[in-house]
Amino acid sequence: MLLEIKDLYVKYGNIEALHGISFYVSQGEIVTLIGANGAGKTTTLHTITRVPPPEGPRVSGGDILYKGESILKTEAHAVVQNLHIALAPEGRHIFGNLSVEDNLTLATYARKNDSRVESDYQRVYELFPRLAERRKQRSESLSGGEQQMLAVGRAIMTGCNFILLDEPSMGLAPLLMYDMFRTLRKLNEEGMTILLIEQNARLALKFAHRAYVLDTGEIVMEGPAQELADNPEIQKAYLG
Ligand SMILES: Nc1ncnc2c1ncn2[C@@H]1O[C@H](COP(=O)(O)OP(=O)(O)O)[C@@H](O)[C@H]1O
Ligand SMILES: [Mg+2]
Repeated sequence: MLLEIKDLYVKYGNIEALHGISFYVSQGEIVTLIGANGAGKTTTLHTITRVPPPEGPRVSGGDILYKGESILKTEAHAVVQNLHIALAPEGRHIFGNLSVEDNLTLATYARKNDSRVESDYQRVYELFPRLAERRKQRSESLSGGEQQMLAVGRAIMTGCNFILLDEPSMGLAPLLMYDMFRTLRKLNEEGMTILLIEQNARLALKFAHRAYVLDTGEIVMEGPAQELADNPEIQKAYLG
């Protein structure tokens, strides 16, 4: 097991957002956590990436293990630099006044003597040819879909081998969504482990290996993605 979430309780102030959730991700998998708005999906990712309070959540019980060791005391920068886990956040958080290329370069700041940086630029531009075409453009001039690609590209440029994706389909037209997910699958086939958070359950279940359903801070169902997609209860509640 690469990542193991064990009976995790999380709070914002006095309000509990996660009520003891457990799940795991093995190396090489695409695992998805699906659930409605407000279910606690982003909270889960922010807890793993150790976003500190006040913006971030506070763990009040349970544990997060990475390669068998607790990372609850690991700071956010060390999660990226030492554990090689990167978050592609919802809402993108790119620097609009910088070019596409400069946004990618910023993500490499901790990789001073890493000879793979050059080939990672190539990798990002091959995965997302639109970014290559627009590499000198200011990022604020990109479409929503291209900004989403840039968010994923930036995560790749950190040198991560485990990527956490917060609703990569958000705001994308259907065709671009499929493009994005096909690219994510390719990235996975090249060795990237992926934890994918999605409100778009139909799409997420199509691309993931395994899935968990998060409902107001609790995991209510889990299994192979295909099995969940075929489950009448899931279809009624999430694929309607
Ligand atoms: N920074 C925050 N401060 C207080 N409450 C928050 C914060 N972020 C999220 N919450 C609350 O935690 C719950 C889960 O939110 P979130 O993890 O953003 O859900 P999702 O990503 O599934 O839409 C919601 O009730 C939300 O209002
Ligand atoms: Mg969210």
